Parts: sequence; structure tokens; C-alpha cells
Amino acid sequence: MGLPIKGIDDFVRKESASLETATHNYGHFKRVADGAVWFVRVLGGGAREQQLACIAGLLHDIVRPADERVDHAVASAERSRRILQRFKFSREDTDAIVEAIHDHRLQPAKWKSPLHQSVYLADKIFEQMGAYLIFRRCMYVAESVTYKGVPMKEAINRHFAMRIERIPKDAFPKRFSGLVNYQYEWLTNAQKALSENRAWAWDIAKVSYENGRSHGKGLEELILTFEPSHPEAARVKAEAVEYLEGRKLKFFESLVLYSSY
Ligand SMILES: [Fe+2]
Ligand SMILES: [Fe+2]
Repeated sequence: MGLPIKGIDDFVRKESASLETATHNYGHFKRVADGAVWFVRVLGGGAREQQLACIAGLLHDIVRPADERVDHAVASAERSRRILQRFKFSREDTDAIVEAIHDHRLQPAKWKSPLHQSVYLADKIFEQMGAYLIFRRCMYVAESVTYKGVPMKEAINRHFAMRIERIPKDAFPKRFSGLVNYQYEWLTNAQKALSENRAWAWDIAKVSYENGRSHGKGLEELILTFEPSHPEAARVKAEAVEYLEGRKLKFFESLVLYSSY
């Protein structure tokens, strides 16, 4: 029997309307779901496992407060278990989905399966790196209570430096190193440009930050309507839009297939 992906998708879409943050919105859930499916496939998982990964991705941040007073991965896993029970998932499927959600924030000692690893990889390599994240990160800084009262430039510079340290490149399987390097470079370039006060980088940062402050547009709309005034900012926007529209996955796949490590 097929899994009720449509039912979960509708449920998450409805729920996300009342979420506390605009950076963790339905778009993020959906992209992590698509990314998790992609990773299971690339790691050799079958059709059934891909469906389970899709559901895990959709639910992975279902509890997402604006800061980390509670571990949102653990809280989301607990809530997902109840949701999956309501949707009458088997015990076995529920456990597998819940485990992938539970471990998507911090790496466990050992990954058990492509499904187990898929949400972590999609969330970190696709959604915590790459060009689009430059917009998302600046918006997040404006929303986050951690940076309340900190001037914009200082807050953004601090956050970029902290995050780059927190996701070490070697936290991922070697076979993804080509992909990780590619995604990482967008961030290191942006961090460098921001710290050197380059106009193009602050163009992106300021628009995103102010939008986060005013709770203006959603992240996707912000990126799509952003008007770059420098070629470098235009390059970042083009890459971000391609990713958001799901047009990067083929290229990402080539980075995994032809990566020499
Ligand atoms: Fe998360
Ligand atoms: Fe997430």
C-alpha cells in the first residue's frame, strides 16, 4: 500500500502557516523532503525508502521555536511520532521516520541507513549551504532573539563566522565532498565579501535583514523579487533561484558521480 504522502503534505502545509519563523516555512520542509529523497536515491535506497524519506523531510522541523531552548530535532521527532500514529503508519515505518528526524541536527555515532542519514544531509548540504542560504541567513539573524540589540553588520558578520565554524566540511561522507565544496564556497565567498565590506554582499544582506525585521516577504518571494545592482549579486541570485526551483539537482548529481576523492 502506498504511503499517505499527500495527507502529510497537506497537514504540514496547514501547520506551517502558524509557525514562528519565516525562514522555517513550508518551502524549507518541501525542499528538505525532495533533498532527502535525492540523497536516499544517490545512496542506493529503493522506492519505499525514498517515500519514507520524503515524509521525514516534510516533518523534520514541525516543532521549531525561534531559538534552541529546546532541541527542536528531538521535539519534532516526538510530535512526528504522534502525527504518524494518527495517519496509521506501521510501527516499523514510524520508528524509521522518527529516527531520521531525531538525528537531523547532530550526527549520531553511526548512521544506520540511507533513510536515517537523508534528512541530515538534505538539511545541511542543500539548505544550510549554497547561494540561497546567504539570503536566508541574513533574514534569520534579523528574526533571532540571539542577536536582539546587536547592530546589523556585527550580527551578520558574527553569525556567518559562527556557522562556518559549526559545519566543518568533514562532517559529511567523502563521496559528497565535491558537492559539499561547491555548496560551501558560496558561503565562504559571502563571508569574505561581507567582512571586507563589499557592496554587492551587503546589498543582499541588507535587503534580507530588513525583510526579516519587518516580517515582509517570505524567503522565496524575497529572493525572486530581489533586484541585484552588481554582477556578483546577480550571480548569487541566479544560483539561488535555480536551487529554489529544483533545477540544481541534476548538476549536484554530477558533482557526486564525478567527484574524485
Ligand atoms: Fe532542523
Ligand atoms: Fe530544517
